[in-house]
Amino acid sequence: MSKIVNGFSKLNKLEKIDWLVSTYFNNETKVKQVLLQYWNSNPLLQDLHDDFIENTISNFYLPFGIAPNFVINGKDYTIPMAIEESSVVAAASLVAKFWSTRGGFKAEVISTVKIGQVHFLYEGDKAELESYFKSKKDDLLKVTETITQNMRTRGGGILDIELRDKTSDLENYYQLHVTFETADSMGANFINSCLEAIASEFEKEDIQIVMSILSNHVPECLVHAEVSCKVEELYAENSELFAQKFVQAVAIANAEPHRAVTHNKGIMNGIDAVVIATGNDFRAIEAGAHAYAAKSGRYKSLTNASIENGIFKFWIEIPLALGTVGGLTKLHPLSKLSLKMLDNPSAKELMQIIAVAGLAQNFAALRALTTTGIQKGHMKMHLTNIIKQLGASDEEKEYLIDYFEHKTITHNAVVEAYNKLIGEK
Ligand code: MEV
Repeated sequence: MSKIVNGFSKLNKLEKIDWLVSTYFNNETKVKQVLLQYWNSNPLLQDLHDDFIENTISNFYLPFGIAPNFVINGKDYTIPMAIEESSVVAAASLVAKFWSTRGGFKAEVISTVKIGQVHFLYEGDKAELESYFKSKKDDLLKVTETITQNMRTRGGGILDIELRDKTSDLENYYQLHVTFETADSMGANFINSCLEAIASEFEKEDIQIVMSILSNHVPECLVHAEVSCKVEELYAENSELFAQKFVQAVAIANAEPHRAVTHNKGIMNGIDAVVIATGNDFRAIEAGAHAYAAKSGRYKSLTNASIENGIFKFWIEIPLALGTVGGLTKLHPLSKLSLKMLDNPSAKELMQIIAVAGLAQNFAALRALTTTGIQKGHMKMHLTNIIKQLGASDEEKEYLIDYFEHKTITHNAVVEAYNKLIGEK
């Protein structure tokens, strides 16, 4: 039987669920129950979520956790994190506490320029195109004036429009490369609206506009965050060796792309969690971060570490195009609350906070990897998931956590211990 459906978007939510359950789940009533149990009991709140996307049939929860004790540029923060990976919030909290007694994190925004492009084809004489662009440049700015009006009052707007010849990369391909300052908004809609207005003004018979869109490669929307301390303050046992191995671990990520990708994935564990909690676009952040990691032509670490004159220093440099107004930031009640928890930061302050979350996560991962190994902490967190899957009671859970305190945790070992425990009862 064909599963192609017409007019689906016109069905109401329950009709959509019924269609899904009958078409893909053999009318199992349990499927409908699972979907309905995630509906919010407050119909207004549910409506709000329904309208974020098309064809909403339920909500998909992510745990929303907080990591306290972050000190950034002398200010205390509790950082909100939305993430499913069990060890991330625990690691962030531990590392925050650790650095809070060693001067905290220092962070600085280096630049905030965003980019959009009008991509077009032109087969004629390049000099003529250049003179057409020159004659048009003021008009291109003028047609965006109504769109940029509010942004200009907030200190943003279009910074420049450049004509770029890309014909050595692709036949007849040119672009208008437009730079923007978008103040406290991420600016995607603003940039795209400006670009589309610019494109229609620029288009003529011999200029074929292909598309107009912002770029998520934002190497000039950059933030730096760091920690440093005396080597002897870094680790309880053999601090010198720990610092050296840590620096080596970063050097390996810089030298070897397979390792770099995993290393940066760990950084993004911290970054994405805060990006999601604050209602920002984590796909844009991911794309921009990985492009930046490959800017030298080879994929490298987003962090660096050094030991100089007995001082250990660890830092990150990462592009983060973020907003604290617009988009979902104030629309989603939990994003709004997250931003309030962070003292309603400007976009620049949020860049600093999120860069720190990434640096902290990388510190936690490298500290574990170069000392005890990552599995000890991971499996400890995973233990509760396994126990839950087994359907253990609170009392059994407590026993199993105690039992595995100094034992190697594997799925089989937990199942065996649990079976033995209930067998003994
Ligand atoms: C796991 O989500 C992240 C790590 O693999 C990061 C790393 O290896 O640096 C632990």
